[in-house]
Amino acid sequence: MKKYKVGIIGATGMVGQRFVTLMENHPWFELASLAASSRSAGKTYEEAVGGRWMMQTPIPEAVKNLKVLSAETDISKVTDAVNFVFSAVDMKKDEIKALEEAYAKAECPVVSNNSAHRWTPDVPMLIPEVNPEHIAIIPAQRKRLGTRNGFITVKSNCSIQSYVPPFHPLHRKFELTHALVCTYQAISGASKTFKTWPEMVENVIPYIGGEEEKSESEPHKIWGKITGNEIIPSKVPAITTQCIRVPALDGHMAAVFMRFKNKPEIDEIKQLWHDFKGPPQELKLPSAPKQFLHYFEEENRPQTKLDCTLENGMAISMGRLRPDTQYDYKFVSLSHNTLRGAAGGAVLSAELLCAEGYIERTS
Ligand SMILES: NC(=O)c1ccc[n+]([C@@H]2O[C@H](COP(=O)([O-])OP(=O)(O)OC[C@H]3O[C@@H](n4cnc5c(N)ncnc54)[C@H](OP(=O)(O)O)[C@@H]3O)[C@@H](O)[C@H]2O)c1
Repeated sequence: MKKYKVGIIGATGMVGQRFVTLMENHPWFELASLAASSRSAGKTYEEAVGGRWMMQTPIPEAVKNLKVLSAETDISKVTDAVNFVFSAVDMKKDEIKALEEAYAKAECPVVSNNSAHRWTPDVPMLIPEVNPEHIAIIPAQRKRLGTRNGFITVKSNCSIQSYVPPFHPLHRKFELTHALVCTYQAISGASKTFKTWPEMVENVIPYIGGEEEKSESEPHKIWGKITGNEIIPSKVPAITTQCIRVPALDGHMAAVFMRFKNKPEIDEIKQLWHDFKGPPQELKLPSAPKQFLHYFEEENRPQTKLDCTLENGMAISMGRLRPDTQYDYKFVSLSHNTLRGAAGGAVLSAELLCAEGYIERTS
């Protein structure tokens, strides 16, 4: 099969590096262009990354000597070489919005990890198993942008990947009315390692800027409905959160409490989790976990270190489901923040967009 040619903008950062490793040996995608800031432009990828390589596997040989372009000034060089780009840049929100629109308007689909376009009403915020129907808004977005091929999709914040997927099949059947969530988030979510953030060794910080607002509001867009040319966010459930930084390298844990309009039995919840599938499983997309939602019966699971890489970091694991004294039930849930929560989730979104014909192999 002829592969799709892929670019990464923000290729030198934490999420960009994940994209680079995920593109190595990908059956549908091959890296054709790398871009970052003007600080990196003109250097080889290896030179540009320098001592900042944070992945456990080495920089792929085929990528080391690729020349890094400027994401801002070499747009046509990037878009001429690729069928779509992944975007993971650390810039001001307005700058990211403008940059991603510039790629889309150059007829290059953008699959973004950034938050800048999450609240643009015709930009789908995809968790491919949960709200795949939102890709149907893309024609309306193309009309607004004046494009034939270019468009933008985004990923949600990494924190919500731990609890929105397990909520989803329950919410559909029994209507969740209230949720309380405390997240325990890894340092890679702040683009850091213990080497670059030594204050986090043996430490807990009870604040992550902007995270609670995103964790409470983004699920409503995910459960929103397409109405005309917009995705209208849902109003339920009411969600309250506290987001805490903990000394884990990778993996966001969530302690979750939930109340329903129609209270299910515990066995019904476990069965719905076990049976839940979306288009990624049905279409057998290359990055799809076979079992998306895993329930552990052991009382001391899931554990961040043991379980966040389940199914290549693309599955969500839950445990400790039990009745609560104030809510109906509580449980614990875990996802990998830079795989399912960032680059891996974006790769899965891109696979879905290719499978559904929204991304074309034009070169
Ligand atoms: N880390 C996570 O778990 C996670 C999860 C979900 C979403 N995200 C989001 O993904 C994005 C990237 O996060 P990250 O953790 O990968 O950040 P990062 O490690 O700080 O990397 C930032 C990237 O942006 C590039 N960049 C900075 N200024 C630029 C400019 N003016 N023009 C073009 N490129 C520029 C950098 O290039 P240089 O190397 O040349 O400076 C680098 O490639 C952020 O929006 C973040 O919120 C992160």
